[in-house]
Amino acid sequence: MAEAVMEAAQASKNHRWKTDPVLTVEHLTMRFGGLVAVGDLSFDVGRGDITALIGPNGAGKTTVFNCVTGFYKPTEGRIVMRHGHGRHDELVEEITATDRQYSIEGNSAVYLLERMPDFVISHRARVARTFQNIRLFGGMTVLENLLVAQHNPLMLASGFSISGLFGLKSYKDAELEAMDRAVYWLEHIGLVDRADDPASDLPYGEQRRLEIARAMCTEPHLLCLDEPAAGLNPRESADLNNLLRFIRDEQKVSVLLIEHDMGVVMEISDHIIVLDYGVKISDGDAEHVRSDPSVIAAYLGVDDEEEIDIPEVREDMHSVEELETQAAKPKPKAAPARKSKAASTKSAKSASDANRPAKMRKPAKPDDLKRISGVGPKLEQTLNGLGIYKFEQIAKWKKAERDWVDGYLNFKGRIERDDWVAQAKEFAREAAKAGRSPSSRKGGK
Ligand SMILES: Nc1ncnc2c1ncn2[C@@H]1O[C@H](COP(=O)(O)OP(=O)(O)O)[C@@H](O)[C@H]1O
Ligand SMILES: [Mg+2]
Repeated sequence: MAEAVMEAAQASKNHRWKTDPVLTVEHLTMRFGGLVAVGDLSFDVGRGDITALIGPNGAGKTTVFNCVTGFYKPTEGRIVMRHGHGRHDELVEEITATDRQYSIEGNSAVYLLERMPDFVISHRARVARTFQNIRLFGGMTVLENLLVAQHNPLMLASGFSISGLFGLKSYKDAELEAMDRAVYWLEHIGLVDRADDPASDLPYGEQRRLEIARAMCTEPHLLCLDEPAAGLNPRESADLNNLLRFIRDEQKVSVLLIEHDMGVVMEISDHIIVLDYGVKISDGDAEHVRSDPSVIAAYLGVDDEEEIDIPEVREDMHSVEELETQAAKPKPKAAPARKSKAASTKSAKSASDANRPAKMRKPAKPDDLKRISGVGPKLEQTLNGLGIYKFEQIAKWKKAERDWVDGYLNFKGRIERDDWVAQAKEFAREAAKAGRSPSSRKGGK
């Protein structure tokens, strides 16, 4: 119910990504063999917005970027880039019906990126990107990195000939412009003093900024940044936010940002799209996404003060025998829904409590459940709230328990896909080896 109200509130707002999208991704699917990295994904990126694409590791974020920027040819789907305001829906359909890649009419243009190679996407459609791992030319100077980014306009001006490189006025002009642009960006990222140093000498945070400057030197309409805040300290992270705001507000360039750090995203994004396992699970402004139950469950982990009532932990600690008999008991099928308060009424709860995993009282040394990929600090808290503190507890889960927790967290099969049980078994084994004698070996000498 609350969700329907939220959806309606979202729909009624006149968001730029609906009225004036610079990029539209429609039914994008990318398969690698049997793996569906991105499945039937659709979203819009508003012109002049900072749009964030977020989601856990492996959600398919970089794959989306690789499709948008022409590094991968999508298995299916359409990716529309627009110059000039408006949606140009008719023109888009018209080009789609032909085998053309784009259409330019006066100041506006429409490009079908899935049909274009990467260099055409960057130079014609004007989509620039940075990579998850820094890809600067380490041996070149900081300034040279900004100049090579502009080599295409320079080559065009040269007429692709040696004679063109010397003396020709158009080349001289282009060269001067390239230099001007490079210096402008060096000033903006505070690196003028380091212009002649090798790029590899810069500290990590400055290399990240240089990469963004390099992308900006190609004068993009859309700037795609793959985890630009990764590895930055809080100070550098704040600088990055300011740089992104400057790019949006002063340069009027739309930004599509992949980010892992929710703090960064919530602060600067006009629009957030959340992916999980290649599927969109939420789409809206920060306010919408922050309170979306599926995001809380799948990405942020369950929040303490959320409506999800965490059952209190019983004072007794189960013995191993008890855990095992409980696990062996046949379980009714239904897993509890965790979506709304209404769904978790007393009776619904007790009916499904049979499958609830065995709990224990907080031990002196709880395991670091965050080591399980897919478990973050919030989720760890929630698991602790369920009386789950040890890897060996999770290692014992059978399908029924897994489904129960999956339903409880509204995870849609994530526990099985991430294989928490196998991970927990491995960590429990490790812990046993490390001599922290696991309680499951009780009396077995
Ligand atoms: N070139 C590739 N070949 C095979 N699998 C890939 C390739 N690129 C990505 N994947 C897989 O697609 C899924 C999504 O990966 P990715 O887009 O990198 O996620 P994210 O950027 O959200 O962490 C992962 O399971 C990854 O292993
Ligand atoms: Mg990635």
